[in-house]
Amino acid sequence: MSTDLITALPKAELHLHIEGTLEPEMVFRLAARHGVKLAYDSVEALRAAYDFTDLQSFLDLYYAGADVLRDEQDFYDMTRAYLARAAADGVVHVEPFFDPQTHTARGIGFEVFMSGILRALADGEREYGISWRLILCFLRHLSADEAMATLEAALPWRASITAVGLDSSERGHPPSKFVAVFDRARALGLLSVAHAGEEGPPAYIVEALDLLHVRRIDHGVRCVEDAALVERLARERIPLTVCPLSNVKLRVFQRAADHNLKALLERGLCVTVNSDDPAYFGGYVGDNYRAMQQALGLSDAQIVQLARNSIEASFLDAAAKQRWLARITEVATAHGVATP
Ligand code: ADE
Ligand code: ZN
Repeated sequence: MSTDLITALPKAELHLHIEGTLEPEMVFRLAARHGVKLAYDSVEALRAAYDFTDLQSFLDLYYAGADVLRDEQDFYDMTRAYLARAAADGVVHVEPFFDPQTHTARGIGFEVFMSGILRALADGEREYGISWRLILCFLRHLSADEAMATLEAALPWRASITAVGLDSSERGHPPSKFVAVFDRARALGLLSVAHAGEEGPPAYIVEALDLLHVRRIDHGVRCVEDAALVERLARERIPLTVCPLSNVKLRVFQRAADHNLKALLERGLCVTVNSDDPAYFGGYVGDNYRAMQQALGLSDAQIVQLARNSIEASFLDAAAKQRWLARITEVATAHGVATP
């Protein structure tokens, strides 16, 4: 009953790196397509290497994996495969991140990855009814000047991009490093989000809010180390896009049962459940909901609240949010779950 509820509820996925949806099978298929020699002999050997000790150990493999993405069709195939999985999970709206610098550094231009990703999103919207908003992420281990150059290079695609974000190695790369490029993005009418408080300290969450003026915090789970910050996040209903399976794989929490998602939800924060890099972390968004339901004993009412939060925290317009929230109430009622 409850598992059916998770799939049946309309959900938004708000923390999803499109390059993190590249499944090992597709890595091998694209490598063969382009004659790229991989460091692993088989799909199984590659998957076996997904045994991470922290964020950086994952990022090293993630950037290596992305090297098989060479042409427009590759980006299309990757994005399209994700959308098929998302649709099967009951995702109705997605706000994927993409990392231009991972590709431009290899000589792959914006026209290649933007065309492939946008063509797949358009086809996915037609076929599955999944709406979308795209988020351009800056790699924070690179310089602020490189981030600014990336934003300028993206301007021909401005109309297809809703927000900018900040990802990659968090420690030692505080949000304050990127004030100028986030100011420029805001002047262009772009919204913003940032990874903060995944491995980095709660002070990075405060910087992201006060210096970058982000609308959501990606991860944010280390907010609990600062009581005043937790109070603020609850009071201002600043969404956290939490990624439970990612947090366990990257050892932010040692076990799923240690995760603070339920505590944050019960504290009144607008927490959402997302998959981050599902091909690397062992599950898509439905798997993340189920892992938390089982490990933390989430009630059906809490599952419904998480779906509601995902819609509330999205960049959809008010009318679309109202429609999805009404649909969530219908689904909850049909499953015998009382909603407030
Ligand atoms: N890039 C892809 N996944 C990421 C994560 N979880 N944190 C930071 N950068 C990322
Ligand atoms: Zn992430």
